[in-house]
Amino acid sequence: MRTHYCLGVDESSLGKEVTVCGWVHHRRDHGGVIFLDIRDRSGLLQVVYEPENQVVFTDAEKLRSEFVVRVSGIVRARPEGMVNPAMATGTVEVVGTKLEILNQSPTPPFLPDDFQTVNEDLRYKYRYIDLRRPSMQSKLILRHKLNSCIRNYLNQQDFVDIETPMLTKATPEGARDYLVPSRVHPGQFYALPQSPQLFKQLLMVSGFDKYYQIVRCFRDEDLRADRQPEFTQLDLEMAFIDEEDILNLIEGLLKTVFKEILNVTLPVKLPRMAYAEAMRRFGSDKPDMRNPLELIDVADLVKECDFKVFSVAANDDESRVVALKLPGGCDLSRKDLDDYGRFVGIYGAKGLAYIKVNDRAAGMDGLQSPILKFLSEDAVQAILNRVEAVTGDVVFFGSDRMHVVNESMGALRVKLGHDRKLLREGWELLWVVDWPMFEMDHQNNRLQAMHHPFTSPKQLSADALCANPTHTLAKAYDIVINGYEIGGGSIRIHQSDLQKAVFKLLGINEQEAQEKFGFLLDALQYGAPPHGGIALGIDRLAMLLTDSTSLRDVIAFPKTQTASCLLTNAPSPTGSAQLNELGIRLAPTNPTK
Ligand code: AMO
Ligand code: AMP
Repeated sequence: MRTHYCLGVDESSLGKEVTVCGWVHHRRDHGGVIFLDIRDRSGLLQVVYEPENQVVFTDAEKLRSEFVVRVSGIVRARPEGMVNPAMATGTVEVVGTKLEILNQSPTPPFLPDDFQTVNEDLRYKYRYIDLRRPSMQSKLILRHKLNSCIRNYLNQQDFVDIETPMLTKATPEGARDYLVPSRVHPGQFYALPQSPQLFKQLLMVSGFDKYYQIVRCFRDEDLRADRQPEFTQLDLEMAFIDEEDILNLIEGLLKTVFKEILNVTLPVKLPRMAYAEAMRRFGSDKPDMRNPLELIDVADLVKECDFKVFSVAANDDESRVVALKLPGGCDLSRKDLDDYGRFVGIYGAKGLAYIKVNDRAAGMDGLQSPILKFLSEDAVQAILNRVEAVTGDVVFFGSDRMHVVNESMGALRVKLGHDRKLLREGWELLWVVDWPMFEMDHQNNRLQAMHHPFTSPKQLSADALCANPTHTLAKAYDIVINGYEIGGGSIRIHQSDLQKAVFKLLGINEQEAQEKFGFLLDALQYGAPPHGGIALGIDRLAMLLTDSTSLRDVIAFPKTQTASCLLTNAPSPTGSAQLNELGIRLAPTNPTK
């Protein structure tokens, strides 16, 4: 139907007849001349209808926004002064000679250009209109390029793309499962995969050696801007490799992706940091390295002080006292400081002490702080020396149980970095390595896998692992980009005895292990090679590469914060006949909900 996409019409087409198809983006009438911006997936092109061509002009007058048209005409240079540098085709226009209205449209609920003023729910209800925006089109096209770049890279390295089941058994990745009732087995359920973790391990036992899949995963968890209930992973696994092989492979992949998609050259080697160091310096396992602020431990300087909040924590192994210096922060008002105090409260902090350094040379007189009265001059000077405070700085303090300090002061570091525009430009990638195998779930008083239960400890003897589980490190790694966890993986346990020992440490008894993971334990006995892998979050990567702030911008039909689809109205009730067939009876709904 067409000879060109809109953006394909340029100065090389001058004087030629072209035909384009698309939507009426804008229509303007100027002194008897009708100007149309026609839009297709490539962009916009201006078409002019002059009254001399009476028949076509009459049709052009009927056009409204979002009508679907086929337009033919002769390309000419725009007259002097009419060139539009903001438009990719801004030096040319098409003088319309033919016009075919392929379809009409009532006035749409919003025009693609008006998206910023439109209620978000309306945009998702009419997502097909929202997706007509050139910026949405380019984001989804970039995502497509990302996927094909990944496929090319892995195909060239002899990876095999293998599909794994969607109707399957629960895979523990730390979220709730989406369950699917079975009609032929009443009372029994499939789980949608939280990841293909176990199947990819089985594929290694089968000898495929290098597997990958760009695959949908499902996790019923609380949603945030960087979490969707269904999302896409680049999932991969290799046999006969160690940690170094996976890290090198992914570095090569990311370098190719950044070069091909953004023309950005990443450093030859990506930096690595131990989990313990990341937590100590940034209070986070996914630190944004563009942010120059750091947490600095000062417990040793306040062990003896009169401020109980500090001295109690300073003398407790499970607690921390940290300082966070904000250069030039003295200009913060009382209200700003109170607001930051409330902010850390969200993460459980009981307060936010600070020292304003109005004049470093003036000793204690040059400082302003609610805690000076509790601290000796020596302690204050030692703290200020350690954080290298100078006149004009403010130093914040967090003192509490380790995880409260890490969460609250880590979040404050991120917030201050953004509020004060301290982040460096560009891309900061970081491997976080040397993860602990387990963390303590204090609520339930039991160990929890930091990555997942199939991750290999660095200490390979089951006895040594059981003797000191909380101090054992795992062969696990995460790749972090600008403060987002983009991927995570590990070397796996390939011996069934060690796997059984890990299940036991996690409080999974033998019977439960057999019921849930018997097939894996069996497979590990029948010649499982050493293996490991990783999964990258494609949605998160696409979000970063397109400079978006939400995963929803890079997913064609995303879910809302409450996991619903406003376009299709999913989830929705189902009829009693279908429920009967599935052997399901609904509990009465809670009227208070
Ligand atoms: P993990 O659970 O770390 O590892 O997931 C890998 C990556 O998937 C992305 N991701 C998500 N993206 C959007 N919405 C979500 N709800 C969501 N959850 C996770 C993140 C994350 O880094 N089987 C292991 C991988 C392995 O060990 O090989 C796994 O799934 O970017
Ligand atoms: P108070 O004596 O309780 O008023 O506290 C004095 C200062 O210490 C106030 O600025 C509080 O915000 C701060 N503060 C209280 N608890 C903590 C804590 N756990 N960590 C850091 N600062 C705190």
